[in-house]
Amino acid sequence: MDWSGRKILVTGGAGFLGSNLCHRLAGLGARVTALDGFLFGGGANPANLDGAGVELVRADIREVDLRPLCEGAEIVFNLAAQTSHMGGQKDPLADIAVNAVAQVRLIAAAREAAPEAVVVHASTRQFYGRPHRLPVDEEHPIAPPDANGVSKFAGEQYWMLEHRVHGRPVVSLRLTNCYGPRLRIRDARQTFLGLWLRQVLEGKPFEVWGGAQLRDLTYVDDVTAAFLAAATEPSCHGRVFNVGGTPPASLREIADLLTAIVGGEAHYLMREFPADRARIDIGSYHADDTAFRAAAGWQPTVGLEDGIRRSLEWFRPRLGAYL
Ligand SMILES: NC(=O)c1ccc[n+]([C@@H]2O[C@H](COP(=O)([O-])OP(=O)(O)OC[C@H]3O[C@@H](n4cnc5c(N)ncnc54)[C@H](O)[C@@H]3O)[C@@H](O)[C@H]2O)c1
Repeated sequence: MDWSGRKILVTGGAGFLGSNLCHRLAGLGARVTALDGFLFGGGANPANLDGAGVELVRADIREVDLRPLCEGAEIVFNLAAQTSHMGGQKDPLADIAVNAVAQVRLIAAAREAAPEAVVVHASTRQFYGRPHRLPVDEEHPIAPPDANGVSKFAGEQYWMLEHRVHGRPVVSLRLTNCYGPRLRIRDARQTFLGLWLRQVLEGKPFEVWGGAQLRDLTYVDDVTAAFLAAATEPSCHGRVFNVGGTPPASLREIADLLTAIVGGEAHYLMREFPADRARIDIGSYHADDTAFRAAAGWQPTVGLEDGIRRSLEWFRPRLGAYL
């Protein structure tokens, strides 16, 4: 698809995944509006859009008039969300206000102002809960382990309802843990790996909680490619897909890989999983994403070792902007 001149709205555009998407879309010549409320505790960072050449609108999807922002958009990449699991547990009303109620606002605005737009919604594997079987396909039962899982499932379902009732082309991508440049690394709110990267770059030991849990991390460039493919491949529209990443590895294996990459500069400490987090932990997860690969012609291209190296190289000269 030729992206040049196309009007695109990216909600959550100053966050981790949204900003990477903005850079890519602008690089392809699209006219991009990034909408972001810079929510406290999320991944928004003004540095994320440095050099992107997109229009940034600082506004909250719970309040702003969304119609002018949707006006004329051909594609909406919908990534704005309250993403913290502990945050959702502490304040489920704020969590549902963004992840469900504001989604309904956006749906209504888009129905008026951009009735033809394709919507790619950023969803999550979180609401499968603790997997009954691995790998997890889209038929796996839904059992959200926390309030954030409930609100993200509700948001996705409102979008899919919009497809079924009003015929809008909507694709929902249930992402696994993603990492790479522009990740929030000052703490572990976005993934454990963010904090590990920070601590390695600062020459400090990092903590591995548990260690046996399996994860199939996706490098951010592969996530961006998944969003673009979902938008442009009509056979994806109206469907919900898992998007996985590299072959599953345990946290301990990922920690060993990270320390091997940086040589003698890093080491880690094993810790018991903290009790408050263990209650909402999903254990091991990896996705069966064969449906998405078949429909979109997508597959991850960046292996874990390469992705960790690229992440370290990217953050090293920019660390100040991310702490
Ligand atoms: N990163 C991952 O590993 C991962 C995994 C599964 C799903 N997802 C989903 O992908 C999307 C993007 O996640 P991310 O990792 O980039 O998180 P992020 O926190 O970096 O990005 C989300 C952005 O949304 C913005 N936002 C939140 N509430 C808003 C509001 N009310 N109005 C306007 N903007 C608001 C935040 O400021 C932030 O910049 C989210 O929907 C998330 O649920 C991400």
